[in-house]
Amino acid sequence: LIVKAFSGKLIIPSFKEFKKLVEEVFEDVRDCKDGKAADYIPQLARVDPDLWGLSVCTVDGQRFNLGDFEKIYTIQSTSKPFTYAMALDLYGSDYVQEYVSAEPSGEGFNEICLDDNNKPHNPMINAGAIVTSSLVKPELNLADRFEYMMNIFRKLSGGTYVGFNNSVYLSEKSVADRNFALGYYMKENDCFPKGSCLKTILEFYFQLCSIETKCSAHCIMAGTLANGGVCPITGEEVLDDVSVQHTLSLMLSCGMYDYSGQFAYKIGLPAKSGVSGSILVVIPNVMAICLYSPRLDKLGNSSRGLLFMEKLLKKVNLHQF
Ligand code: DON
Repeated sequence: LIVKAFSGKLIIPSFKEFKKLVEEVFEDVRDCKDGKAADYIPQLARVDPDLWGLSVCTVDGQRFNLGDFEKIYTIQSTSKPFTYAMALDLYGSDYVQEYVSAEPSGEGFNEICLDDNNKPHNPMINAGAIVTSSLVKPELNLADRFEYMMNIFRKLSGGTYVGFNNSVYLSEKSVADRNFALGYYMKENDCFPKGSCLKTILEFYFQLCSIETKCSAHCIMAGTLANGGVCPITGEEVLDDVSVQHTLSLMLSCGMYDYSGQFAYKIGLPAKSGVSGSILVVIPNVMAICLYSPRLDKLGNSSRGLLFMEKLLKKVNLHQF
């Protein structure tokens, strides 16, 4: 980092100016109280809805954090792109695409629906993510599989902070009728590899949603995606660049629930949101931004997070096209 800084080779040479600009927009949207924190999982309903955190991590490892960047929350659906990338890494895209397609579904994130080939539409919605969870290291028992995943999440975050929230996990499991319904529907349609145990798959999926982190660490995970799978802090190659490429394509087309099309149109960046109120935004080969604000709009995306991105784009054109 220091060598790059002195030789003028940093991806954002005027990092201080960029930070100032981000701070202005961060304060500008602070008053946004639109939407409501998710309450279908009792533990999520109890968070302070006013929390507002932001982190930036460039591919050079330059970072800054604002507001409630140290508040711990569960990663929820932002685990989905990482699980998908891990499956691609392990088994390759041809195998993974035998089980999960790569088309936007046009339906809600937890909709009970499959495409014409009886496959989930994409790995960013629940159906697809449950199937991807069944693909990763099925030969391991649940404990070893969880440990395997946690290790990768730790590496993605450059060894900063990744934990597990048992209360959210139990809470999630106790209100999971829809995910069980989805699971049985997919089992009936032979969506899982032979010999899979549905209960184990769902438990693993709930565990992945219940991994906890904070903005500053979550942002490094997304920074690893921005950097083609190499963690910008440690320099470790955690994911293959081709797996990351496929994952970012699907984050662009399917990462923001039913708002994905609009988000791609207006913001033009791969992103993934989760119901606890975080949004990961990846600017490929440049940086990642992590936003955390629990109030969600009707489609399930953090309202203040979306407003922030819209306002930021008016000041600096990060749109990829
Ligand atoms: O109900 C579930 O499956 C959630 N815990 C998933 C989390 C989420 O963020 C929804 N996203 N697509």
